[in-house]
Amino acid sequence: MPLFPIDNQPLADVSAARAAHAPVALITGGNVGIGRVTAIALAQAGYQVVIAGRSLERTQPVLDQIRSLALGPEALFLPLDLASLSSVRECAGQFKSLNLPLHLLINNAGVAGLRGKTVDGFEMAFGVNHLGHFLLTHLLLPDLTASGPARVVTVSSRAHKRTAGIDWDALQSPTRSWTGIDEYAVSKLANLLFSAELARRTQGTGVSCYSLHPGVVDTEIWRALPDWARPLLRWRGLITAEEGAQTTLHCALHAPVSESGLYFAKSQVAHTAPLGQDKALAQQLWARSEEWVKP
Ligand SMILES: NC(=O)c1ccc[n+]([C@@H]2O[C@H](COP(=O)([O-])OP(=O)(O)OC[C@H]3O[C@@H](n4cnc5c(N)ncnc54)[C@H](OP(=O)(O)O)[C@@H]3O)[C@@H](O)[C@H]2O)c1
Repeated sequence: MPLFPIDNQPLADVSAARAAHAPVALITGGNVGIGRVTAIALAQAGYQVVIAGRSLERTQPVLDQIRSLALGPEALFLPLDLASLSSVRECAGQFKSLNLPLHLLINNAGVAGLRGKTVDGFEMAFGVNHLGHFLLTHLLLPDLTASGPARVVTVSSRAHKRTAGIDWDALQSPTRSWTGIDEYAVSKLANLLFSAELARRTQGTGVSCYSLHPGVVDTEIWRALPDWARPLLRWRGLITAEEGAQTTLHCALHAPVSESGLYFAKSQVAHTAPLGQDKALAQQLWARSEEWVKP
């Protein structure tokens, strides 16, 4: 029996799990917000946590907090800029050079309202939120499969419901909308379609995949929005990062394998927009993403 809390296995003896080898979770953007809470909770649940992000300096307080809790193996940091596909390749390569198994990949990092293009010429939200994670997952899939049972959890958003479709040409242009929210919605639809398609492709391999909306959460993600847009968010009712991490943790630790491919909110299976169920669109996104991430 695996000694980690996958498939609803209770952590009857966490210390025994640590004495063998702790399961390993890699999370993107674990230095602040929802990712920070998720990283610490996974360490508390017995995982060796690897945080992939842009700054060791900004991640050090989380690494220190995990160390201060004396939770099994040391948490690690790997440099990752999702706005650069070469950085994604280097990050995956560095993970492989650690010779660790990989039981859980959490595609958490994201930007909202940031305008422009990535290093590789993709619209910023699409490039960071979807394409960087698409490549990272693709490169780490052999590690996940070899370590199965394993999971991929992708943090999407109910903002995916705000888009009427994917304008493929716009994905290789700078952000067009003034707030960047239209592009954010497309990127979050892409997260959801990617997770569902990945679940179809990994069926029977021991890898299961989940996407989710964390709630409207009081984090730094809104920093790029113009000042006038912020009161609208507060009016919608922001929840804390601790509350916002709960659905990610549910998907990572508790959701049954039979729910692979589904989208969650409030720690339950939730309805997507009709576009989120569009298999042809998911396949088209997959095929184009594969082309776009080719070196
Ligand atoms: N907050 C909400 O209300 C809400 C609602 C729905 C969905 N979500 C989703 O929840 C996830 C977590 O967001 P959050 O609210 O916790 O936001 P946050 O506090 O701003 O955290 C975002 C994380 O992403 C990282 N990141 C940004 N750009 C990156 C890049 N190019 N390469 C690598 N990492 C990068 C950030 O690192 P730096 O510190 O280096 O910038 C940070 O660690 C996102 O996917 C977001 O879309 C949030």
